[in-house]
Amino acid sequence: MPSLLRLDSSADPRSSTSRELTGIFTRTWRELTPEHEVVERDLHRTPPPHLPNSALHYAPRLRADGERPDPAAEDLQNALLAELSAADLVVIGAPMYNWSIPSTLKAWLDHVHVLGTTVPFDTKDQPLAGKPVVVISSRGAAYAGTPDIGKDHTIPPIVQILGDSMGMAVSVVTADLTLATRVPAMASLADAARHNLEAAKARVCDLATSLG
Ligand SMILES: Cc1cc2nc3c(=O)[nH]c(=O)nc-3n(C[C@H](O)[C@H](O)[C@H](O)COP(=O)(O)O)c2cc1C
Repeated sequence: MPSLLRLDSSADPRSSTSRELTGIFTRTWRELTPEHEVVERDLHRTPPPHLPNSALHYAPRLRADGERPDPAAEDLQNALLAELSAADLVVIGAPMYNWSIPSTLKAWLDHVHVLGTTVPFDTKDQPLAGKPVVVISSRGAAYAGTPDIGKDHTIPPIVQILGDSMGMAVSVVTADLTLATRVPAMASLADAARHNLEAAKARVCDLATSLG
């Protein structure tokens, strides 16, 4: 049965744009056929810990003498890897926090980006190569197509890790200007924000359907 892994990392339980968009993606995909299954992992409500030491960044055969992970931490890493491996498709809500990604999402990436396991190192193996992943990034201001594009440190590291390094097929959807409805000084941008959100919703539906 085809399975989708949905990951959210927004700290806003009330009006999160990324959660709304991952939700639309999930509903659209699930409704394509009754066989479609969804696994949900909320990285904000149940945050993965930081890596307890460097050992978990390396496959066991690449660890230095005496570099041993805590068994419970290794069990969690194996569970996260198994969940990712079992999914046919992944959708990730990745809000911009301080021009970067939420630390919870970074901790998840640190667990699944493993030299010699998910990343080729001394072999050509890239077990997750070609697996589609849709990254949905909500941000308060505007970046794409503006002089501030270089300040976006949200999308580039995710594309580097999941796409370039692990070989997954990354699609990106952004929803800019979400702070227009919260920050009075941005009120004049409310129409542009609405337009961005509608475009993001349409793109998310298209992707869910085409990847179904
Ligand atoms: C901790 C924090 C840091 C943020 N930093 C930025 C930032 O650097 N640039 C930006 O454009 N918006 C920033 N924002 C605004 C969020 O990107 C925006 O509210 C976005 O919609 C959050 O995603 P969500 O709606 O899914 O929660 C920040 C918000 C929070 C809570």
